Amino acid sequence: MGSCIVVEDHPGQRKLLVATLDAEGHDTVGVAGGLEALRAVREAPPDVILLDLGLPDSDGLELIPQLLAVAPLTRIVVITGQDDVPTAVSALRAGARHYLVKPCDREELLLVVAREVRVVHVEQARALHDEGPVFWGTTPRIHRIRMQLSRIADSPHTPVLILGKTGVGKEVVARELHRLSGLPGPFVPVNCAAVPDELLESELFGHEGGAFTGATERKRGLAELADGGTLFLDEIGDMSVALQAKLLRFLHDQRFFRVGGEVEITVRCRVVAATNRDLEIMLQAGDFREDLYYRLAVLTLEIPSLKDRVEDIVPLAYHLLRDIATEIGKDPRQLSHAAEEALARHHWPGNVRELRNRLERALILGSDNTIQPSDLDLYVNPPRSPDRVGNEPDRLRRILEEEAWIVARAARRLGVPRHWLRYRIKKYGLAPRQEPV
Ligand SMILES: Nc1ncnc2c1ncn2[C@@H]1O[C@H](COP(=O)(O)OP(=O)(O)OP(=O)(O)O)[C@@H](O)[C@H]1O
Ligand SMILES: [Mg+2]
Repeated sequence: MGSCIVVEDHPGQRKLLVATLDAEGHDTVGVAGGLEALRAVREAPPDVILLDLGLPDSDGLELIPQLLAVAPLTRIVVITGQDDVPTAVSALRAGARHYLVKPCDREELLLVVAREVRVVHVEQARALHDEGPVFWGTTPRIHRIRMQLSRIADSPHTPVLILGKTGVGKEVVARELHRLSGLPGPFVPVNCAAVPDELLESELFGHEGGAFTGATERKRGLAELADGGTLFLDEIGDMSVALQAKLLRFLHDQRFFRVGGEVEITVRCRVVAATNRDLEIMLQAGDFREDLYYRLAVLTLEIPSLKDRVEDIVPLAYHLLRDIATEIGKDPRQLSHAAEEALARHHWPGNVRELRNRLERALILGSDNTIQPSDLDLYVNPPRSPDRVGNEPDRLRRILEEEAWIVARAARRLGVPRHWLRYRIKKYGLAPRQEPV
């Protein structure tokens, strides 16, 4: 059974919900408001949060992303009045998984909670068994992709094309699709850009002994190894047009010849291709075969860049922090408010990979309990022209006072490099106030 937090301001209803879930074996805590909920979740993220949307101290819709930011794997079920179903729908958009209308039907409540607990446990188990990261996100576009993935998983022989900029998680998605498909065979990745063109065909389809200089014995290709599983063709945009034709044939009838071979080989596997290149432009330039494109593009998943899902950045950061902390055997750390702001403002050309790298560095190198922008190598943009910001000297003086004029501490709090602050101290002639004698 799972752990639950019930967030409900009405004492009678809260007691009833807690008692109902407790009786079912869930380890349940009741809290009366949003702030208390955030505190409780920070202390121990539960499997499920039952959230009343009509709280007096916080807006339920704003609370959802805040809760998920602290506990990304937790599932939120909202409870709403009968006349407020549209708000419940907005709550689903904000990241809640399900809604129940008051008064809650006992059976439905228990069913929904049990199901959500099960899902959370599966995701936790995956993380424990090192099956690779879960494709994670809270925004509607990511929800949609996850839903598409479960549908595509049911037709395990249709090729899939995954598009998206570098580091957005294309391989994570491909692996997750493989997992969801429950295929008996392995997941076999091939990086088409990393293997020289002359060798790629034999890597993929294998060769017979003596097929070319250096091919002394028969070698099975990666497509054969992927039998019953998934063949992941990463960077498909880098495959030569000649090899594209052979791949197309394989996609049509699951058959191919080894290089230099005369016997046709049949392999049943799902082909998932990915690229960060613009295939449509490549089509026009004749660098990508149209027929292959249309064969692959039957099922296309477009993974959005991080800057196009800003709401995901901070929750994703917390999710990754936990992951990395477990990996390197350190305690996860909190992000300071300034760090969260800096993360949300950065452009993320390297997408989730860049986010992960910055967080890993912060966890390894940082010493404080809280991660600051400087630990992430991100600086809260200093105002472009300090002259235009009339109160900058006052603001800096106040913070320096509060930090006992220790420049390192004040800089850390401001999320700026020390030299930036020192320069301004000098420029504005800032100094500790002299106490009157
Ligand atoms: N949604 C996500 N949830 C958790 N981790 C993610 C997510 N997306 C990406 N990552 C992490 O980001 C890194 C990059 O992901 P991945 O290798 O799948 O990107 P990619 O799109 O294949 O990039 P490239 O085009 O450069 O090959 C990996 O460390 C991966 O674990
Ligand atoms: Mg990749």
